[in-house]
Amino acid sequence: MTDIYADVDFFTDPSLVDDPFRFFAHLRESCPVAHLAHHGVVGVTGYEEAHEALRSNDRFSSCNSASGPFPGFTTQPEGDDIVAFIAEHRTELPMSEYMITEDVPTHDQTRSLIARLFTPRRMRENEEAMWVLADRQIDEFIDRGRFEVMRDFGQGFAVLVIADLLGVPEDERAEFRRNLGALPTVSDGAPNQMSHDPLGFLIERFSEHVEARRLAPADDVLTQIATATFPDGSIPPVDVVARMAAFLFAAGQDTTARLICAAMHVIAERPDIQTALRSDPGLIPNFVEEVLRTEGPVKSIGRMTQVTTVLGGVEIPAGTVLSVFPGGANRDPLRFEDPDEFRHDRPNAKEHLAFGRGIHACPGGPLARIEARISIERLLARTTDIRIDPEQHGPPEDRRYQQEPIYILRGLQALHLEFTPAATASVAS
Ligand code: HEM
Repeated sequence: MTDIYADVDFFTDPSLVDDPFRFFAHLRESCPVAHLAHHGVVGVTGYEEAHEALRSNDRFSSCNSASGPFPGFTTQPEGDDIVAFIAEHRTELPMSEYMITEDVPTHDQTRSLIARLFTPRRMRENEEAMWVLADRQIDEFIDRGRFEVMRDFGQGFAVLVIADLLGVPEDERAEFRRNLGALPTVSDGAPNQMSHDPLGFLIERFSEHVEARRLAPADDVLTQIATATFPDGSIPPVDVVARMAAFLFAAGQDTTARLICAAMHVIAERPDIQTALRSDPGLIPNFVEEVLRTEGPVKSIGRMTQVTTVLGGVEIPAGTVLSVFPGGANRDPLRFEDPDEFRHDRPNAKEHLAFGRGIHACPGGPLARIEARISIERLLARTTDIRIDPEQHGPPEDRRYQQEPIYILRGLQALHLEFTPAATASVAS
């Protein structure tokens, strides 16, 4: 049998952008831990294997979490144990100053600063403010009877929520967002490499805010991070805190906007599910989990073996780049029955790996979940039906959607919807 994917490079081939899932299934069927044909990468598409890789931080370093195989170290590590090599060379890799690429023990220290920042209880306390922010966005387009989900709602709402939580002044928010660095794209054979510090601009500004909060504490998350101490009681340097704040600001935007967009896509394409959610909003949280399972915004999580090890029965030499594909693991039939089917009431939807697992598991998960739930609740409450705009996306039998050409994240470039406004009043006024 010919291998139709033999020459396909996941990181650069535009043909995988629309539907990477068949590729993931193909890999998983050949082996859940498979050597890819390009860049020396091992792809992990099995649920158990992905779970193990994400949890075993003693064997798999996060030094390349955000960038995967690019650009790699300037010299190649040798031997079966490269822990010391990674420690010495990690600053060569993108985002090396951020928590997401840190390994123990540094990561434990940094993560302790945000240990109880986004607990479900704290998020519930902020819920009312999020309702107002969501309605404020909806007020902008409610009379038009149509909107583009990413531009008119998701991105604005996600920025407002995180900026509000952190305490970023209103007049700085647009500038902060404009300056976020671009993510690596899939561009036909030449993946743009991530800039070393795509959040650089934010650090300077957040440093000023951190210093100000230390002098005059306010009632916001930034004050909590600015005044947090390391487990040994020492006070973290300002730049460490500023990086944390910048990363929280950036990590919580596009991912959450994409989740909201993916959820609205299902709602508009599946009137049966829309009706079920309208008649029982209590179904929305599990619906969101199923969206995360089937269309989670993170497409690839990078890891590097720091010792020669075995995963899923496959020996992997130290220094090998792993791409853990949550979209593969989340459709593993050994874990999820009929995995390609969208079931809003799937009992084990929440077992997905969309937020990762282990010490780096997404601390913003509770926030993203609540943002998605509130967005859906408010959009459903303020409309009587939501439909795909056929002028933009074509008729039902011939839809046209464009996914972002990014190998790290997944999500539609735009989603145009039509709706009939309901009589429900805005809570923002
Ligand atoms: C749907 C939305 C989101 C998704 C799918 C998502 C996904 C992820 C994943 C998969 C990781 C783990 C990466 C790894 O293991 O290397 C991660 C880490 C992280 N996420 Fe999220 N995320 C989302 C929203 C957010 C939000 C709203 C915030 C903050 C407000 C946030 C902040 C972070 C941070 C700080 C880390 C690094 C944690 C660490 O290294 O210990 N994320 N996210």
